[in-house]
Amino acid sequence: MANKCEFLSLPDNNLERNRIISFSFNYDEIIIPEALKKFAKGKKYYIHTYGCQANYRDEEVMSGILEKAGFIKADSEITSDVIILNTCAVRENAEDKVFGKIGELKSYKQANKNVIIAVSGCMVQQKHIIERILDKYKHVDLIFGTHNITDLASMLNEVILKHVRLVDVKSLPGDIKENLPSVRLSSFKAFVNISYGCDKFCTYCIVPYTRGKERSRKMNDIINECKELKDLGYQEVTLLGQNVNAYGKDLKDGSSFAKLLDEVAKLGIPRVRFLTSHPWDFKEDMIDVIAKHNNIMKYIHLPVQSGSDEILHLMGRRYTVAQYKNLVDLIKTKIPNVAISTDIIVGFPNESYEQFLETVEMVKYVKYDSAFTFIYSPRNGTPAAKIKDNVSPKEKSLRFRELVKELEKTIKISSDSMVGETFDVLVEGPSEKDPSMLSGYTEKNKLVHFKGDISLVGKIIKVKINESHLYSLIGEIVNE
Ligand code: SAH
Ligand code: SF4
Ligand code: F3S
Repeated sequence: MANKCEFLSLPDNNLERNRIISFSFNYDEIIIPEALKKFAKGKKYYIHTYGCQANYRDEEVMSGILEKAGFIKADSEITSDVIILNTCAVRENAEDKVFGKIGELKSYKQANKNVIIAVSGCMVQQKHIIERILDKYKHVDLIFGTHNITDLASMLNEVILKHVRLVDVKSLPGDIKENLPSVRLSSFKAFVNISYGCDKFCTYCIVPYTRGKERSRKMNDIINECKELKDLGYQEVTLLGQNVNAYGKDLKDGSSFAKLLDEVAKLGIPRVRFLTSHPWDFKEDMIDVIAKHNNIMKYIHLPVQSGSDEILHLMGRRYTVAQYKNLVDLIKTKIPNVAISTDIIVGFPNESYEQFLETVEMVKYVKYDSAFTFIYSPRNGTPAAKIKDNVSPKEKSLRFRELVKELEKTIKISSDSMVGETFDVLVEGPSEKDPSMLSGYTEKNKLVHFKGDISLVGKIIKVKINESHLYSLIGEIVNE
């Protein structure tokens, strides 16, 4: 029989919408209960992360807390004593994957009764998901949300000592916590949060609910974290936020993304990146800073979502096709040779074929270097999910394929143009497909495979491109 369930808090969609709350900055160290330290001795943990970079950064913090308690990282779920599924809610297929994984873990839990299974992240910021897990997946012991990952030690302690199933999913963000323990996933590439949450409320999107109000970290705290990474030899830092361009507005102390980016670039980290830029907040001073520093990668992810003014309006994106094109033109004028990537949603409710073709037009106009394309997925509680949709799933799939075909034309042109040229590549590790090769990324995020010694991992080297394969390139190392 499953343990008794204790509810500390449950998410409420109406509260999650709240943007008035105030917050402060908390620099207190995380305390690990003695009982948890005793429990953790010789035990292993595994975190399975889904979704975006914000979730991966959360995984690093959770790992930091668990290792501070004494747990050791396991190689897989089925060799561990604590398993956390750190989930994403952005589209239905992301949620389906997680339910599949929770189901898979049932037999492992049956054979290993003392294993603790937890579900965290954006998915469980929704009440109906929690109800489904509690009802159908009795082997899940702990459910916690995005706003209380820093309470992980005390929540685990509670589950272990009291033998309860615990649900603690807060609707509101609370303070910004600094001085967080963290075990980074890479020793040469790092993500640094600059802001949390999102205030844009695009009508299709769940993120403003699951991640809460937009909150910026203080510039000093961010710069100190980047400085530490530089001193540790990190080659690449990516500044993270759902909308980095809005950074600092809430601080009201003169901080802005342009200033922050300028300061971070001055630290001299070889590669500086940032994710994600909302076109609406992208201002000229930011473009000037990107143009000015050689170590800010000339690669901008600029989600367009649609090429139709009517659909953009219904999506609540706050820009028109003309404004987006003007921004792209300005970026290209000030940063010649820049690469632009994007996100596109196909099949927003009632999107007509003509409106879809306007998106194809946009793709032709911008000539994106890469793109993430999605079929619209209704998200419970968002305004768009209430719209009655007259476009069939089959029609959406057809449009999706048509769009990908168009994108591949421009991506092929940009990949082919690299053949014969030499580029700086940050070496990631052995290639996933062919372990006798190494893989790495160029400044503009193109994936390159080449032969080389494993000792090159984490270094930036010169690679000459010999072949172009649309989504990857084959090259050879050149010595200067
Ligand atoms: N803050 C970022 C990332 C948001 S999620 C941004 O604004 O770009 C990443 C992408 O998922 C979005 O850009 C959008 O293209 C897609 N997405 C979000 N909600 C979606 C939904 N309900 N259906 C399909 N795609 C969605
Ligand atoms: Fe979602 Fe829009 Fe915010 Fe991006 S900007 S996270 S798409 S609401
Ligand atoms: Fe997914 Fe949450 Fe990120 S919904 S995309 S993990 S912010």
